[in-house]
Amino acid sequence: MTVLPVLTWGDPRLKKNSEDVGEWTPELEQLVADMLETSLYEEGVGLAAPQVGVNLNLAVIDCSCGEDLNQRIVLINPEITAEEGIQTGPEGCLSIPGVREVLDRPQKVTIRNRARDGSWHELTGEDLLARAFCHEIDHLRGRLFVEYFGPVKRQYLQRKYQKQSRG
Ligand code: NI
Repeated sequence: MTVLPVLTWGDPRLKKNSEDVGEWTPELEQLVADMLETSLYEEGVGLAAPQVGVNLNLAVIDCSCGEDLNQRIVLINPEITAEEGIQTGPEGCLSIPGVREVLDRPQKVTIRNRARDGSWHELTGEDLLARAFCHEIDHLRGRLFVEYFGPVKRQYLQRKYQKQSRG
C-alpha cells in the first residue's frame, strides 16, 4: 500500500465533476487500498478519488480512523437519497490542512451506493458518518466544504490556510 499525494485547495482538479466507476478492476482495488492507507496516514475520516487526482465517483470513509476494520466504507457512484435533521459541528478536509470550521450538515443521511460486484445497496449514517457521506459526495461533484461559506469568510479561511501551509 502506498500513501498517495493529496491535492490541495486551489488545484483545479478538485473542482471537476467525477465520472462513474465502470467495471471493478484490480487497479481500482489497489487504488482503494492506497486511498485507505493515505486517509489513515493523514488521520482523516475519508478521502475521495479526485483528491488523489483520479476523476472517478469513488471515495473511502473510515470514521474509526483505522481502529475498526468494520467501519471501512467504499463509496462507488454514491448518491444521497434522503436527509433528515441538522447537526452543527466542525469539519475539516485533507485537501485544506489546518482549517477546521463549523458547518451545518444533515444529522441523518441515506445514500444509494454500488458494491464492487455492481449490486446497489442503501446505507444510512448518522452524526459523523452522515457528515462524511455529504463531505465525500461533495468532492465527487467538485465541491469543497469551504465553498458553503460566503466570500468574506472564505477569504479569511484561505489566508489562514496559506499561512499554515507556509509553515
Ligand atoms: Ni475532504
